Amino acid sequence: MVCLGNICRSPLAEGILKRKVKMNNLDWQVDSAGTGGWHVGALPDSRSIQVARKNGIDITDQRARKFQTSDLDQFDLIFAMDSSNYQNIVRHSVSDDQKEKVQLIMNMVQPGMNESVPDPYWDDNGFDQVFHMLEEACDQVIEKFRG
Ligand code: 4NP
Repeated sequence: MVCLGNICRSPLAEGILKRKVKMNNLDWQVDSAGTGGWHVGALPDSRSIQVARKNGIDITDQRARKFQTSDLDQFDLIFAMDSSNYQNIVRHSVSDDQKEKVQLIMNMVQPGMNESVPDPYWDDNGFDQVFHMLEEACDQVIEKFRG
């Protein structure tokens, strides 16, 4: 799960997907990262911690890290929150195989629409909407890839 800072959107996506993976007894490794490095080592944004907690998920074990090229080998699927994140990740790919692992997460809900998860960093009111978008998208991730 990749966004810009790895403190608002992708920590929520990681927390939500981890809960669904556990509920479905799947053996998946779920992680998140940011394409920017400003917040490396930081806790998720307090507003993300709060909206997650309100929905029964604790994300305070997470610390921000920067996306690295090796993630394109390490993971089978890489979900970008917005088109800018998508471009920044794909820039690192060196093969079609790597490029095809990268998808906009909201295309799991509405394929081909290329909708972005809005960046809530500058908007205190955006966090509930982001949570619910990601919950819907993660349901589809489980549905599509659980095999
Ligand atoms: P995120 O939100 O990409 O969802 O973690 C942001 C967090 C920090 C900044 C921008 C977006 N920032 O500019 O520091």
